[in-house]
Amino acid sequence: MERVVGALKAMGEPTRLRILMLLARGELTVSELVQVLGQSQPRVSRHLKLMTEAGVVQRMPEGAWVFYALGAERDGLRGLIDATVAEVPVSDLTLARDLERLEAVKASRAEAASDYFRSVAQDWDRIRALHLAENEVETAMRDAVGDGPFGLMVDIGTGTGRVIELFADAASRAVGIDISHDMLTVARANLERAGLSHCSARRADLYALPFDTGAADLVTIHQVLHYLDEPSVAVREAARVLAPGGCLLIVDFDRHDHEFLREEHAHRRLGFGDSEVAEWTRSAGLELRPARTLEAASADGLTVKIWLGRHSPDARNERDAA
Ligand SMILES: C[S@@+](CC[C@H](N)C(=O)[O-])C[C@H]1O[C@@H](n2cnc3c(N)ncnc32)[C@H](O)[C@@H]1O
Repeated sequence: MERVVGALKAMGEPTRLRILMLLARGELTVSELVQVLGQSQPRVSRHLKLMTEAGVVQRMPEGAWVFYALGAERDGLRGLIDATVAEVPVSDLTLARDLERLEAVKASRAEAASDYFRSVAQDWDRIRALHLAENEVETAMRDAVGDGPFGLMVDIGTGTGRVIELFADAASRAVGIDISHDMLTVARANLERAGLSHCSARRADLYALPFDTGAADLVTIHQVLHYLDEPSVAVREAARVLAPGGCLLIVDFDRHDHEFLREEHAHRRLGFGDSEVAEWTRSAGLELRPARTLEAASADGLTVKIWLGRHSPDARNERDAA
């Protein structure tokens, strides 16, 4: 009873309720909350501290940034939090204004990332090689999914199309999607040069993939999730387009502390832990195999993780029922 009273008290204040309504739309940093709420950082931090102690929000430090999210389901308060947030009508003026500001904050971040990809598109293959032992990673990716054959392969955030080229011989048709026109220009030139007429690149947002549910046998997402606001939502959308028995191959960095990648290379997240990826794939209805780890070649290098999720027909039924 004490826990519930504590949670109700923590939620029962206008700014704190606004914070919950914002976090219900995805995790945010303190400075993003400060921008949306228009209140000072110490003030917002005080609210967040109180809410964290009451278990209604989770605090997730990552390098120099701290992300906040709604309280975890395992803490048992999530039903109460969701119900409270749902009580505020979308027509509420304060909520509407906050959501408008949140969109503006997200849009300016998306613009910064898109400027970054525009500026590096021509040079991307060289930049990528700075952080990855590419041959080793590519061999491990092929080993992870086997030889196929795959009907449709979808590569999410295809960039220069490298992953499409890697799997082209195993797929009847492969489509790379990306939001950046500049990256797509390079990808199309690369696919044409490689003579891969069954492969193409098209512009789309990875949060709304232009494929029917269950259309793809293999979906890959290589070094993309750490740029995103909501990697869990991206994984759910990737799982949606997978056919029963299909595979989702996620390749990204293990947790690291190379803060400069945020400032210089538009990264939002400093890699991911196994438990985090396991939670995303589980709630997307996938069975996750134990990850493969490719250790960094040097002390200041980055360790790469390969996670493979499989869409079993049973898992699909569970997900659809949910
Ligand atoms: C680091 S690059 C990786 C490219 C490629 N997968 C590789 O490993 O070389 C990340 C790519 O994700 C794309 N991207 C970022 N946000 C996206 C979104 N919302 N929808 C589609 N593509 C996105 C970027 O434009 C960029 O080309």
